[in-house]
Amino acid sequence: MTEEQQQIRDLAREFAENELRPHAEEWDREAHFPREIIGKLGELGFLGMLLPERYDGLALDTLAYVVALEEIARGDASVAVAMSVHNSLPTQMILAHGTDAQKERWLGPMARGEMLGAFSLSEPDAGSDAAGMAATARKTDGGWILNGAKAWVTNGGFGDVVVTMVRTDAADDRRGAKGIGAFIVPTDTEGYSVGKKEDKMGQRASETVGIAFHEMFVPDDQLLGDPSQGFIYALQGLDNGRMGIAALAIGVAQAALEHSLAYADERKQFGNPIRAFQGMQFKLANMATRIEAARALLHRAAAAKDAGEPVSKLSSMAKLFASEAAMYVTTEAIQVFGGYGYVKEYPVERLFRDAKVTEIYEGTSEIQRTVIARELYR
Ligand code: CAA
Repeated sequence: MTEEQQQIRDLAREFAENELRPHAEEWDREAHFPREIIGKLGELGFLGMLLPERYDGLALDTLAYVVALEEIARGDASVAVAMSVHNSLPTQMILAHGTDAQKERWLGPMARGEMLGAFSLSEPDAGSDAAGMAATARKTDGGWILNGAKAWVTNGGFGDVVVTMVRTDAADDRRGAKGIGAFIVPTDTEGYSVGKKEDKMGQRASETVGIAFHEMFVPDDQLLGDPSQGFIYALQGLDNGRMGIAALAIGVAQAALEHSLAYADERKQFGNPIRAFQGMQFKLANMATRIEAARALLHRAAAAKDAGEPVSKLSSMAKLFASEAAMYVTTEAIQVFGGYGYVKEYPVERLFRDAKVTEIYEGTSEIQRTVIARELYR
């Protein structure tokens, strides 16, 4: 890593140690997202990590970003997912496809943490088949009228602005990728409503909500790019997003490994610390090896992105491998802790719950395999 990348990693680590890790258990128990943390992340520049300096971003490369995100996730996965979605999806989509006026209007406040961003693609009946969405936008004077229900939106309630994908051609057969537009929607827009907050297994502090649009007017200057290309923009965004989720999974796994190493050192059975037993050593070695392999694959994907190479396959590979590594490592961590791993008094059961969704959101492991397999024949 360069000196700058190391500095960013150290800054993120210190922040996570002081501001996140001590509270992670309580935030999980209370399913409470610490909104004030968003302001602090903004002050550090962590909400504009990939944005140019002219929009108050840090203009970092992707490697520095994923390294920082891993550290944040090591402290608290729920804060990390809010940060990942914001940095990888809405801000990058506006940067890539917005007009100069849109960039001026949205990116500065988003980079400074004055506006938290969300990304809304899924619907109750359109998950893996994201293009099967039903929400619509119909053209009217000076803008569009949006109607429909979206699901599983991270930051969709307490966030400030959502980039949402809806069908711009309601006469379409409601299938397929064409005829979907991407809109920038402030969450206080008339007609925007927030449904129930999901009561989740893990990453409980992060806010995941359903949202609905009812005859919601969105002016023309909040349409992103071409009204028929929003789905493509979303998939390009997810190429970034999946690297963020890989980083998050690695951070969770790393935390589980560290707890396991400490516990195996202090826990004595049969007159020895349990790390003296070969069965335990094999576990710890396997856990550490999978984490390093996941990290290496993610850093390879990040380097490809920074070199301007196509990144779909590598980001899907990194997300797939890292999320499965996180499930493996956190499952083994519970085994290392034995009965103590199964109770809430110790942190590894939370990490196990936090890891699971990394195999699901931003495309399930099955979808990642589909994307990878398709790319192998390109
Ligand atoms: N970049 C740019 N364009 C892409 C692309 C990419 N990565 N992947 C595909 N495309 C293009 C294709 O070339 C195609 O264009 P043409 O028709 O011009 O050739 C178009 O996009 C449509 O692609 P497909 O035909 O492959 O579309 P599909 O309907 O078969 O679906 C899919 C593809 C990979 C299954 C996609 O729907 C997918 O990724 N599904 C998973 C959805 C997902 O990840 N949801 C995440 C929800 S958000 C979330 O979880 C965030 C959060 O809050 C944590």
